[in-house]
Amino acid sequence: MVRQIQVSRRAAEMNYAIREVAVPAAELAKKGRKLCMLNIGDPNKWDFETPSYFKAALRKAVDHTDNGYGDSQGNPEFRDAIVAREKEKHGVTVDKDKVFVTSGVGEAINLLMGALVEQGDEILVPGPGYPSYMQYINFYGGKTVPYRMIEEENWRPDVDMLRKRITDKTKAIIVINPNNPTGAVFSRKDLTEIGNIAAEFELPVVSDEIYDKITEVPFYSMSRLPSDVSRIIFNGFSKVNLMPGWRVGYGYVMDENHMLDQIFEGIMKQCRARICPNVPCQWAAQASLQGPQDYIEDMNRRLKDRAEFSYERLNEIPGISVNKPQGAFYMFPKVELTDWKSDKDFVLDLMNEEGVVFVHGSGFCQEFGQSHFRTITLPRVEILAEAYDKLEKFMIRHKA
Ligand SMILES: Cc1ncc(COP(=O)(O)O)c(C=O)c1O
Repeated sequence: MVRQIQVSRRAAEMNYAIREVAVPAAELAKKGRKLCMLNIGDPNKWDFETPSYFKAALRKAVDHTDNGYGDSQGNPEFRDAIVAREKEKHGVTVDKDKVFVTSGVGEAINLLMGALVEQGDEILVPGPGYPSYMQYINFYGGKTVPYRMIEEENWRPDVDMLRKRITDKTKAIIVINPNNPTGAVFSRKDLTEIGNIAAEFELPVVSDEIYDKITEVPFYSMSRLPSDVSRIIFNGFSKVNLMPGWRVGYGYVMDENHMLDQIFEGIMKQCRARICPNVPCQWAAQASLQGPQDYIEDMNRRLKDRAEFSYERLNEIPGISVNKPQGAFYMFPKVELTDWKSDKDFVLDLMNEEGVVFVHGSGFCQEFGQSHFRTITLPRVEILAEAYDKLEKFMIRHKA
């Protein structure tokens, strides 16, 4: 027998909840089962189309650029466009040399944690929050320390808990706003308070703003915080800009204190090692920033109807209760676990019995996500209605 090469602890321990439920779902689909996949936040899987002028820009880039490698930090013209866009959106001045382009925000998270985390370091993350953060923190030997999002207060962050959970091992505070999975949009007051805590404890803040244009309430970017707060802002093109498969994202550093000089250089070293982000897709992403923006309004209009319908309908179902989302395209309902030991068992049973696929809440935070599930508000109302009818039948059958 040939010997088995052992996988690293880092890789073995990875499990990204959102795609994890996709494995048993794929098995069912292979057996011919029709499924309603409400587990992935991909607008292009539903009736949101990549605008045709983005596609034209991509074709043009392939036809008219040399298709060779590009700048490791990202196309300079694209970084100029990002700087201009941040100015227009938030009135802030970003240094082009502190912008780095990535293969989606997913890669930005990996690069950041690769530069930041040493064994035993602690990173404060909203609980529940987008699972990639915990995955990469753990991958590099760190510890995710969640701070609670308060369900009873429409999922606003528990700023007191955040403060209490800072230790001498804390390396950074992560904010995900608008939030995946709760759909909460953080208030300016809470963001300012988090910024004040960061400045007081000399910690950097990382703000993931990938859903910044998908909100029903005013959005306050952490790029607008006072200059004594050292920040890294993430944004990307998979959600608002409807090109998730093209894998474009970016980060930028605002750091007058120079607290993050070494971290930025650590990110740059990794950027050079990965050579460069996809060059033609950056041209297409640039076009999406500079052309007509009405597709965003259209998207928000449709999402609003779907979120309102979901809010009303889910709250009618026995054993389910949910807050009204203010942004992004997710909801994080609470479920009474009558027949199930865990929210994951609930999600798997629902998938098997009714063919509706959600993600278990504990996959977004063991401590503050249990007894919940995450769903999306992207499908048309008729599709959502059918899924909620099935969920209702299932809950009644299980005596909620
Ligand atoms: C908060 C958040 N950040 C980052 C990502 C990953 O985005 P990208 O496609 O840019 O890697 C997601 C995707 O769902 C997300 O919800």
